[in-house]
Amino acid sequence: MQSLLNKKIVLGISGGIAAYKTPELARQLIQEGASVQVVMTEAAGQFVTAVTMQAITGNPVYTSQWDSSISNNMAHIELSRAADVILIAPTSADLMAKLSLGLADDLLSTLCLARDCPLLLAPAMNKQMWDHAATQRSAQRLLDDGVALLGPASGFQACGEVGMGRMLEPAEITEQVIAFFQKKTLLGKKVLITAGPTFEAIDPVRGITNHSSGKMGFAIARAAVEAGAEVHLIAGPCDLETPLAATGKITRTDVISAKEMHAAALKSTDSDIFFAVAAVADWGIAKPAKEKIKRQGKNAPAIEFIANPDILLDVAKTVKTKGGKPYPYCVGFAAESTNLEAHADEKRQRKGIPMIVGNIGPDTFGSDFNELIVMDAQGSKKIAKAEKLQLARQLIQLLAKKI
Ligand code: C5P
Repeated sequence: MQSLLNKKIVLGISGGIAAYKTPELARQLIQEGASVQVVMTEAAGQFVTAVTMQAITGNPVYTSQWDSSISNNMAHIELSRAADVILIAPTSADLMAKLSLGLADDLLSTLCLARDCPLLLAPAMNKQMWDHAATQRSAQRLLDDGVALLGPASGFQACGEVGMGRMLEPAEITEQVIAFFQKKTLLGKKVLITAGPTFEAIDPVRGITNHSSGKMGFAIARAAVEAGAEVHLIAGPCDLETPLAATGKITRTDVISAKEMHAAALKSTDSDIFFAVAAVADWGIAKPAKEKIKRQGKNAPAIEFIANPDILLDVAKTVKTKGGKPYPYCVGFAAESTNLEAHADEKRQRKGIPMIVGNIGPDTFGSDFNELIVMDAQGSKKIAKAEKLQLARQLIQLLAKKI
């Protein structure tokens, strides 16, 4: 799935060492379906060449305001008119200051002033430059003007220092550009999500778990942040990266067992929506051994199970009302080997939740694809087979209408 299909992006590059990552950024934007038109400042040319950017984007690269080969010599107007968004990565401290004041003394700054499309900036600079009151003033002015700042992040810097000012990685910038284009149907909403499997320890080295990859829950987390929500993602043991982490709109709690997941979910009391996507172990081990259980000839140890708390059921019991509407709006998930619809609807009613989503499967574990059936008191609706992120986006739009 390409999330930037038919989007026209003007990619500005200013003078900073992080420009060595911009070719990779351009490649990722193009892979997502965007067409990319590069505009470079003179200083950017010290770090990456116009030929590199032309070869990657397949488009001529603009470097000068004074290009007599352009028929009407109005590149600044034409480029900004044609764009869905202007993205500048890296944005130097100098360019931030110029843009915050409305200065326009080269092609890139001029087309920003002449634009009628959104402007996204990925700042990159040394930490002293970022922390300087002048840069902070520029950042605030730009935010007040409706410009979006992607990052910067904190970390190792080319100058050898460690601190705030690193440009976000190309993948993080691409993720945020994609998010920028999604409908903001959950602005101001808080979303709680459980995802992945749980692990029930038998002893310090063994345990019981299941095949859940966490992909569906993480896709819902990403789609919810894209829609403008603040997300608390409670993840069982899985090695997936937190989506859109650099936005600061998602907090992640890692847990191991169902009991830990239960405690974490019940602590999050102010959510508007709860998606119980985790494949929670129905049973835990009554008395996990403190030491590794030794093999005793041919005798296998007897393991006693105890029922785990039902997280969804217990969160559903905490539902309150705000403005006549219940919150959190609880959404369960069901994976069944037979009679999906009947079992799923029985679960929905037994757990006292308004909506349940059935995995039509059959092979949904670990896959990037799924097919869903959404069931509530009014009936059911299928969401055709697609990538989990695409399904998650559809589910979020459906939920936004419900709440
Ligand atoms: O029938 P079952 O309890 O497995 O229903 C599945 C739904 O309940 C899923 O949404 C799952 O995340 C949730 N669940 C839970 N806590 C459990 C078991 C299931 O939240 N202990």
